[in-house]
Amino acid sequence: MRIIKTKDYEEMSLRAAEILAAQVVMKPDCVLGLATGSSPVGLYQRLIGWHEEGVLDFGRVTTVNLDEYRGLAPEHPQSYRYFMNSNLFDHINIDKKRTFVPDGIASDPAAACASYDRKIKDLGGQDIQLLGLGQNGHIGFNEPADSFPVGTHVVSLTESTIEANKRFFASREEVPKEAITMGIANILEARKIVLIANGKEKALAVAEAFFGPVTPKVPASILQLHPDVVVICDQEALSLVPGEGESV
Ligand code: GLP
Repeated sequence: MRIIKTKDYEEMSLRAAEILAAQVVMKPDCVLGLATGSSPVGLYQRLIGWHEEGVLDFGRVTTVNLDEYRGLAPEHPQSYRYFMNSNLFDHINIDKKRTFVPDGIASDPAAACASYDRKIKDLGGQDIQLLGLGQNGHIGFNEPADSFPVGTHVVSLTESTIEANKRFFASREEVPKEAITMGIANILEARKIVLIANGKEKALAVAEAFFGPVTPKVPASILQLHPDVVVICDQEALSLVPGEGESV
């Protein structure tokens, strides 16, 4: 695991965007595993900028997203499908038919989970998986638990996640209580993983996940076992890990 310390959000976004862009240049028909939340917005803006400058071509790229809220249709402004369209897909030359997000309104959620697992497998897995980090150490929506969930599954969101994510909704009551998420095995099967975290709200999760024991109580801690992980954090997110990380 490589930890890169950046001075701020902008620099974190640039470093992560450079890695994703390099992946697209290296393998134009690559599979990108993508994430939502506030952390990747700056990174997506960089990718859009490079596309507009004509140096990044998404024409043959496929994407698979980590998760989706249960009960939110793709047109709902807080759905992760809507987020991906408005923050990235609408602004690049990607074929939307090759962008996959779990189905939040499937009438048979178990079948939707199995079909998402199959989709990832059929695509040959992610060449690179981008991750954010929940304040409680979750990745995707894999919440702290007694064991690591393997495949795509429906999850009940913890109170702390509902609390953290209410900023995107008009009220706490509107935050969905469930989500459908890739499991830990789906994430670890990616050939390369890039995790980004910024701000002091993430400092405890960063310290526990990457400098503590591997435990399902801190789901991101399992990334310590993956052979190719880059963690890119701003100084605030690394503030509880004195002396760690390489400055850029
Ligand atoms: C959400 C998403 C995660 C994301 C996390 C952090 O709950 N399911 O994929 O990484 O929150 O979000 P943010 O980047 O807004 O802090």
